[in-house]
Formats: sequence, structure tokens, C-alpha cells
Amino acid sequence: MLRRRNEGSRTMSIDLTEETITAEVQKTFDGAADERTREIFVSLVQHLHDFAREVRLTSEEWFTAVDFLERVGRISSPTRQEFVLLSDILGVSVLVDQINHDGGAGSATDSTLLGPFYVDGRPRVENGSDISGGVPGMPLFFTGRVVDSTGLPVSGADVDTWHSDGEGFYDVQQADKLHGELAMRALLHTDLDGWFSFRSIVPRYYPVPTDGPCGEIIRAAGRSPMRPEHLHFRFRAAGCEPLVTMLFRGDDPYLEQDAVFGAKRSLVADFADHEAGETAPDGTPMTEPFQTVEWTFTLASARR
Ligand code: BEZ
Ligand code: FE
Repeated sequence: MLRRRNEGSRTMSIDLTEETITAEVQKTFDGAADERTREIFVSLVQHLHDFAREVRLTSEEWFTAVDFLERVGRISSPTRQEFVLLSDILGVSVLVDQINHDGGAGSATDSTLLGPFYVDGRPRVENGSDISGGVPGMPLFFTGRVVDSTGLPVSGADVDTWHSDGEGFYDVQQADKLHGELAMRALLHTDLDGWFSFRSIVPRYYPVPTDGPCGEIIRAAGRSPMRPEHLHFRFRAAGCEPLVTMLFRGDDPYLEQDAVFGAKRSLVADFADHEAGETAPDGTPMTEPFQTVEWTFTLASARR
């Protein structure tokens, strides 16, 4: 193998082979200022090269993959997060979440993936507010409490919630209909006893977006694109680990076949049915059927 000196101190190689190229690429990270950056790229190169060797990847297949990633990038925007969706449908989002929340947190509420529909800029509202944004649907009253690992209330916690409408669509998927307004999402804060509450509409199971490049993978695999019905939550509070989670309903037809692998039995809540004529938790006499959900979220103590 011939070698020459680079402008820097690194020795470059030419005439690399299928066997020698991996180590040669890995060596280019020797000078990384950050050791973790070096570790990650050396391993990434190893696995990527091994993958290409293992499947005997053709040039055409690699160009197809590069074109795919380019299209994932082109369709992406702050409200169309196709890279997040790619990570989700390949199970990477849940894998990384599991690696980092391995159950060592004791009694803490289980976490799950964030998904592509969390957006910044959601309205901050008072407890008890109607966050449906006027989207029609069966009323849902949610009452939540946030406690720490010792069971004490966590006051002043940031609580983000977001969910689909009764047809399975998020606000950002119907920007034309909603004139670009955000709906069915809000930022709330827990009160002195850790409570928070809101009124909205009952969501529904839905397919993950399949009209972009990720849909090609789902169709090629003959997979179901469906997610079980759920409410999303994200908690941030001083002295506690952040928590990203969801609540599911137990009788959902897709609970055991979530397209993004995020459903957990520990996160199944009772979406209780109520008849017209009953009183809502906020004291409203209801003239139509509605549902209520109550849940206590436990946050782990902040890691030192
Ligand atoms: C969601 O729950 O919003 C979601 C998660 C992953 C992919 C698509 C949607
Ligand atoms: Fe969702």
C-alpha cells in the first residue's frame, strides 16, 4: 500500500481495498477534539461498512438510498419532520429512549417516543382551558397530577400536551382547514399541588404519514402504518428528569401493533365514557356524551 504525507500530520493511503478502507476512514477521526465524537464516528463507519459488505450493496442500491435521504430532507420542515418519522418507523427513536430510560428510575412513569408532531410555538394556557381550538369532536376532560419519585407534588412543572382530532389528524396536517392555527396542543403548568387539567376532544388511532418517502418503506415492507389512539405529554421541572410520554387506551385495535413501536402496557389509561346529562369534572353540565381521563405522572429525580 502506498502512503504519502497529508498537509497535516495524518498519513493518507491510496489503493485501498474492501478490507483496508474501513480502518483508513476510522483513522481520519483520530484528531477529533472531542473523544465522544471520535468514538461515535469510528463505530458508525465500522457498522456502515460492515453493512455494505454484508449485503453486498450495489452502486444502484446505494444511489437509491442517497436519493431517498435527499427526498426525506427536501420534504422536511418544522411541521413535517420526515427524519423524525424515519427514525420512528425504523425503531431507532424507541431504542434510544430505552437505552436512556432503562427502568433504573424506579417508580418513574415510563417514557416513549416524541414523534414528529411536537411543535414549538404552542399556546400557553391556564389549567381547565379548552385546548381543542374549536375542532369538533367528542369532549375530553383530562385531569393530571405530577409527583416526584418520593410522591411529593411537583409544582410549576411545564406540561406540554398534543394529540390528534377524532379523525386521526393533527393540526399541522390540516393547516389549510385551520388557517394555520395550532389546535389540540398547549403548554400548561402544574399548580401548587402538582395538578393540571384541560378540556379538548377525544383523539383517534391514525396512520403515520405515508405520503412522503417513509411511506415507500412502509409499503415496500407490507407494514401497517397505524398508531393506537394516544395523548402526548412532555414534562419539564426543576430537580427532575424531563419526561416524554403518551397515554393509550386499552381497547384500541392497534395497541399491540404500533407502527413506531412506542406503545406500553404501563401507559394504558382509562378513557372513561360519560352520558349526556352528567357533569364534567370542571362542573359543566354536559348535554352530549364525553370522556374523562385521569393520570398521575411520576418524574425521576434529576441525575447529578
Ligand atoms: C405520533 O405519535 O404523533 C407519531 C409518532 C411517530 C410517528 C408518527 C406519529
Ligand atoms: Fe401522536
